[in-house]
Amino acid sequence: MLRLAVRVRRADAELVLAELLELAPNGVEEVDLGETVEYAVYGPPGELPALPDLRAAAGAALVDVSTEEIADDWTERWRAFHQPLVLGDAITVRPPWEPARGTSIDLVIDPGQAFGTGAHATTRLCLELLLQLAPGGPFLDLGCGSGVLAIAAAKLGWDPVIAVDNDPAGIEATRANATVNGVALEVTRLDLRSDTLPAADTVAANLLGPLLRTWAQGLGAMEWPQRVIASGLLVSEADRIAEDFAAIGLKKIVRRADREWAALVLERSP
Ligand SMILES: C[S@@+](CC[C@H](N)C(=O)[O-])C[C@H]1O[C@@H](n2cnc3c(N)ncnc32)[C@H](O)[C@@H]1O
Repeated sequence: MLRLAVRVRRADAELVLAELLELAPNGVEEVDLGETVEYAVYGPPGELPALPDLRAAAGAALVDVSTEEIADDWTERWRAFHQPLVLGDAITVRPPWEPARGTSIDLVIDPGQAFGTGAHATTRLCLELLLQLAPGGPFLDLGCGSGVLAIAAAKLGWDPVIAVDNDPAGIEATRANATVNGVALEVTRLDLRSDTLPAADTVAANLLGPLLRTWAQGLGAMEWPQRVIASGLLVSEADRIAEDFAAIGLKKIVRRADREWAALVLERSP
């Protein structure tokens, strides 16, 4: 097992992180080193991002790239990295090895090789916004990763709940996590850039900014969705993305931010 670390200048760190998450969608460890930030990914050789891709993702912010063999404490490090997310007394998202926290909803999510322990700011923002909405009707989790948003939606009362992703690891993890959490989901592998998406009144789309824009621009002729939670965008992209949705009749009603990440609730006017 290897730990592959890239150190970047703090001023550019968040932009680099957005790029790195494309290369390592199952998560990136962040270590604050003062003037620089270190982002690390773990995996067997051959499953890690290629060095030239990493260098390209870090761009001019790059300070150093290093690799390190991980010894017997690998499992503990991995587990320490996946801390539970607890949102008040409403919802916990925890890996299987963490105890329940006594919240109304308890989600056990094993990310496997897919993105999504719930702990990433973009997922947390989506969950916080989901908790503010009145549940009901068809729900689509667009880019479901490990299925955390779809499973939370099913537990909150949306029905049916459809989860889609183009990554086979995400499909596998979502199906397994749905079973563990006792919810029924329709889980389908598809690419939102080229395939027809299932219609739903409410869509949670935790995607990076460019992909959100692509999706929004293709939605023009559709009568659905009525409501979108859009996350995974940088604060600096939020106005432009809100404009893309406004152009197809979905108006921004809530904007929330966590450090450099923003999330929007957009609704179609009656
Ligand atoms: C930021 S992750 C969000 C995962 C999960 N919804 C969460 O909040 O934890 C984005 C997900 O979108 C998926 N994705 C990326 N491009 C896609 C595409 N073109 N079509 C479908 N899914 C895509 C990725 O595989 C990844 O699982």
